Amino acid sequence: MNIVRLNPDFNDQERRSSLFGGDFLLYSRTPSAAALVEHAKGFIKEAFPSTDPQKAQYEMPVEQFIEKAGPLKSKFTNDLGTKEIIRSILAEHGCDLEKTYFDVPRLRVVTSDGFLTAGVGYAYKAHRDTWYSSPEAQLNWWLPVYDLAPGQTMSMYPGYWANTIKNSSNDFDYDEWCNVGRRMATTQGSVDTRKHPLPQEEVQPATETRFVLRSGETLVFAAAHLHATAPNTSGQTRFSMDFRTVHLDDLTSHQGAPNIDNHAIGTTLRDFLRASDFAPIPEEIIEQYQGQEA
Ligand SMILES: [Fe+2]
Repeated sequence: MNIVRLNPDFNDQERRSSLFGGDFLLYSRTPSAAALVEHAKGFIKEAFPSTDPQKAQYEMPVEQFIEKAGPLKSKFTNDLGTKEIIRSILAEHGCDLEKTYFDVPRLRVVTSDGFLTAGVGYAYKAHRDTWYSSPEAQLNWWLPVYDLAPGQTMSMYPGYWANTIKNSSNDFDYDEWCNVGRRMATTQGSVDTRKHPLPQEEVQPATETRFVLRSGETLVFAAAHLHATAPNTSGQTRFSMDFRTVHLDDLTSHQGAPNIDNHAIGTTLRDFLRASDFAPIPEEIIEQYQGQEA
């Protein structure tokens, strides 16, 4: 059973336990989440200065849209201010900044009506982040920049929390992805030729659940949950932000969500930064964690 909790009065340990059990946690907009929204809007306005960014896709050819969305996403991810606001969000939620690490924050640009579904606007098929070499100890934090419509959000498939689905994660190697896949993202137009891990059987639609959040409201869930980009039928581009966290104690004690069907190679742990000072995870901890996985 997967429980949905709104603004739970959890400490960080209780929150992680709940999430590793498959629960979904929803949080109202905090001051720092509001700051992240405004921060993102600044970048978005810079990329699309003369039009409503959520409608900009209807005013330019797809190539021009890619030229704007690609640098927009990179700027948001690489900006120091973005990382500092995420540290504030984690502090607001009672995370231990010395033991909590987060990976690079991302800005997602999901266009409507199939305008752009590859590369910088890749519409993720159903996947668990763990199929992309994320650790089972990873938690995903997801928040929209603008209020969402049901036809604009993400699909969750909680029915697969405890049930396997045949998939191609055994073909996924994170090192290869970094060397080839990411660099190809800005060159992908209508077809995405990167080697994403994919389901190899039909995802049962009856299990689909959608969370329709308002600007800055936050959904937190375990990386092992099956989820996808819902086809955007809203008539507006979705701009959303996400980042992932791991807690040092979960890595050293090998706590996390159960792994039921993930066979990916490698780890994303070297991408994570300590919330307090943005230092990487010590290599010996990563090696120890991977040794436990093997
Ligand atoms: Fe994902």
